[in-house]
Amino acid sequence: MSSAIAVIVVAAGSGSRLGHAEPKAFVPLGPDTVIATAVSGVLAMREAPHLVLVVPGERVETTRERFSADAAAAGATLDVVAGGASRQESVAAGLAVLPAAVETVLVHDAARALAPALLFDEVAAAVRARRHGIVPALDIVDTVKRVGGDGQVQETVDRSTLRAVQTPQGFPRSSLDHAYATARGDVTDDAALAAAAGLVVEIVPGDVRAFKITVPADLRRAEQLLAGRHDAEQHTAGRSPAAGAHDDAPRPAAPRIGTGTDVHAFAADDSPLWLAGLHWPGERGLSGHSDGDAAAHAVCDALLAAAGLGDVGQIFGTADARFAGAHGEVFLAETRRLVEASGYLIGNVTVQIVGNRPKLAPRRGEAEALLSRVLGAPVSVAATTSDALGFTGRGEGVAAIATALIVPA
Ligand code: CTP
Ligand code: MG
Repeated sequence: MSSAIAVIVVAAGSGSRLGHAEPKAFVPLGPDTVIATAVSGVLAMREAPHLVLVVPGERVETTRERFSADAAAAGATLDVVAGGASRQESVAAGLAVLPAAVETVLVHDAARALAPALLFDEVAAAVRARRHGIVPALDIVDTVKRVGGDGQVQETVDRSTLRAVQTPQGFPRSSLDHAYATARGDVTDDAALAAAAGLVVEIVPGDVRAFKITVPADLRRAEQLLAGRHDAEQHTAGRSPAAGAHDDAPRPAAPRIGTGTDVHAFAADDSPLWLAGLHWPGERGLSGHSDGDAAAHAVCDALLAAAGLGDVGQIFGTADARFAGAHGEVFLAETRRLVEASGYLIGNVTVQIVGNRPKLAPRRGEAEALLSRVLGAPVSVAATTSDALGFTGRGEGVAAIATALIVPA
């Protein structure tokens, strides 16, 4: 049966910035390779697509052998073709072999190996609903500067109108064919070609997991995220009475809980205090890579643990400059999106703050309202002192302990 939707996965690049002996898509990742990880996301889409893998010429045959059974098992049809000298040529090679029945095309970088199936589903649904080009996009949280060749900062760019775009990028097939047929010059994504051809391109929310593996640190991040994912799968299997015997049988999804703790020391300077998502004027601030909001971070950890997605350090690592100085709300909103993208809704969350200051009671309702709004679920906030014992009792810092319940969506 022919699919109305096709996904072209471009995997023909050499990966010069990764600096590996193999072409980037064929570099080992987790139990398999970068391209196999990307393909598993595509084949988990709600609607089985026609899958086109665009690979280096000498790998066409081995790639077809490797993925034909996987594609068939998912109800997808498969084509493997040789790529070109640029990404754009590789996409064109994939477009050239699309079956006539295909009406919607998603183009995806194999290098964005961890893009979840849900993101493909969302992009495909948006293309069909709006009949435009659709690109997943993330807000830019850093301050952005224009810098001259001499390294001097020229100006601060207004980031409110800027977005970082990812793949899969989706288009009505006829629009993408037209964009490629009229393409002039080389561009790094399909939306740029579509826009150059005068087509409307709109954004949908992107997903942090759809980051592009470009340099060695990205590969390490992907390995860590995958390790977390496999742990979670093994725990689920281990808990199930059907484990081993009926590994393919659907398991009833159960609610899941998670616990998170965080500690931040009071800062030596006069930085402001942010706690439970609120600014506390006149109170001493907490130190940390972000704003030091121990309560928000404990809540994120509890939610990530419940969903088996790892922890705050892993998802929002200190190496990631996007989260330097960010407020709790940014982490919480992103965590909520990750939890929801993994198929759960937040049931409720509790967080208890341990410390002498600030006095929570007068602003408890405000904190609960804010956190509940950001998470879309009831959040209770409590506070206690530690009876003058330990670092919290000596007023050296604040601790927070959170519990989260998530339920299958
Ligand atoms: N790509 C492709 N054909 C090319 C160049 C790139 O199919 N001639 C694919 C890559 O395999 C990758 C995606 O386009 O999945 C995004 O490109 P990029 O991350 O730049 O990958 P590479 O070009 O392989 O890496 P580098 O630029 O570091 O050499
Ligand atoms: Mg490249």
